[in-house]
Amino acid sequence: MGMNTVSRQRVGEKIWTIVVAAGSGSRFGSPKQFSLINERRVVDWAVETARLASDGVVVVLPADQATREGGVVGGATRSASVRSGLAAVPNDATIICVHDAARPFASEFLFDEVIDAVCAGADGAVPGLPVVDTIKFVGENNVVVSTPNRRDLVAVQTPQAFRAKTLRQAHAHNPEGTDDSTLVENNGFRVVVVNGDPLNRKITTPEDLNWARTISRGEV
Ligand code: CTP
Ligand code: MG
Repeated sequence: MGMNTVSRQRVGEKIWTIVVAAGSGSRFGSPKQFSLINERRVVDWAVETARLASDGVVVVLPADQATREGGVVGGATRSASVRSGLAAVPNDATIICVHDAARPFASEFLFDEVIDAVCAGADGAVPGLPVVDTIKFVGENNVVVSTPNRRDLVAVQTPQAFRAKTLRQAHAHNPEGTDDSTLVENNGFRVVVVNGDPLNRKITTPEDLNWARTISRGEV
């Protein structure tokens, strides 16, 4: 009887998610987050799950769409867009997740995993997948500098969850990074990795969208 571990841990937590959807999609060729998968836009898939998993959601959008859709206006970089979102997250939020609109198939379970890791004491939590390729650091003139051990590497996804004050502090001096964990790590905080999900692929190229449309038709 009684509450499960998750709900007991979460007593007193207020969980908000920022969905960043203000990018230009330069590799895709257009703002991919507004392409359709099964009649719904990529961003709508992401926002729907974020709403199920959180107490509140802030959607960060390009200027021409923000007012019409009830979102906030993004910035020139992903990090700047996250900061626009942060400014709209209420001060009583205790945990803040950041999620890419370009990942339509993140599950509610995955949100719960990163949120639970923060409830359990981490400053931040990110989903990670094993890396299949050998990765190299490359220096000037395409010369290989070194090769990290593949067993020590993961490819990280969103949603990424953080203690609210930690994320706000990490963004305080307007740093830039390709994800939020980088900024939090660089401030000396402890970020843990939970199991990522191969289905939670980011739409980066038209090929990724074709894959997502096929998945949503149940053909894979
Ligand atoms: N994003 C954003 N604001 C920016 C840049 C990116 O909100 N100034 C969002 C994108 O909309 C996307 C997520 O951050 O949901 C991840 O970024 P990415 O996949 O790199 O998307 P884009 O930056 O739009 O694509 P590209 O890098 O190919 O231009
Ligand atoms: Mg980008």
